[in-house]
Amino acid sequence: MISHAGKKDFRSEVFIGNSPEILNILNIINKVADEDATILITGESGTGKEIVAKEVHKKSRRRTEPLITVNCGAIPFELLESELFGHERGAFTGAHRERIGRFELADNGTIFLDEIGDVRPEIQVKLLRVLQKHSFERIGSTQTITVNIRIIAATNKNLDHSIAEGKFREDLFYRLSVIPIKMPPLRDRKSDIPLLVNHFLEKFQAIRKTKEKEFSNEALDVLIQYDWPGNIRELENLIERLSVLVDKRVFDVSDLPENFLQKKQEGFEKSAARLKKDI
Ligand SMILES: Nc1ncnc2c1ncn2[C@@H]1O[C@H](COP(=O)(O)OP(=O)(O)OP(=O)(O)O)[C@@H](O)[C@H]1O
Ligand SMILES: [Mg+2]
Repeated sequence: MISHAGKKDFRSEVFIGNSPEILNILNIINKVADEDATILITGESGTGKEIVAKEVHKKSRRRTEPLITVNCGAIPFELLESELFGHERGAFTGAHRERIGRFELADNGTIFLDEIGDVRPEIQVKLLRVLQKHSFERIGSTQTITVNIRIIAATNKNLDHSIAEGKFREDLFYRLSVIPIKMPPLRDRKSDIPLLVNHFLEKFQAIRKTKEKEFSNEALDVLIQYDWPGNIRELENLIERLSVLVDKRVFDVSDLPENFLQKKQEGFEKSAARLKKDI
């Protein structure tokens, strides 16, 4: 079984994987989806943190309500507070009209706080209160608003280090990580690579309406050996690039970018050296 969401439909994302690591994560998702416990998803860039958050929401009874994503790392500090909590008209210079924050928009649904490790301590205090009481005030207002939300957070930072450096509140960390989900890097679950390769080949065939394409066995071996520092996003981007640029039905080793081939060469030299030692 490849797809975990029934028939593959590239308009909605599908969560792919058959490795013990991914099956374990799917198991956790299924167990916690209908609970309201806060989830903290950690893992390197491109490992699928956001797709896991979407999967939890999709499987929860909140699925018909909004999933509101806030990329805390991408919003400038001065704007983040009003983005999250909203503000009243005239609350600060430039606040010409009232604004509803993302926590209010997410009422009855799920809020996904992405890159939570980038949030500054001033806002961390306010988040702590939302986590504890599900309530907050819009900037410039004294009226307390209470919401019914499920909170999911994610980060590629090592929050233990941030806590040790005094950059992240320990109490917030414990509140967030009631259910911790650690996404394994792709190099630690190589058995998923062929499934993901097929998935993305099909995805770009469907989008670009081209004929079926595949990798030669040798090229697939190179993909399996490679260590994927950019994880699944890097794999997806590579397959998109090849689908667009290489006008062949079967992608071969020579179609792969040079850094993949260097890896192969190193691997070859290493195994040659090992062989020599054995003789
Ligand atoms: N298990 C999976 N099955 C199918 N597609 C996946 C899977 N995991 C990740 N992807 C795809 O890989 C890309 C990167 O995933 P995602 O954005 O969830 O990673 P991330 O951990 O949030 O990365 P970043 O830290 O860079 O924000 C997305 O296009 C996503 O759809
Ligand atoms: Mg992400």
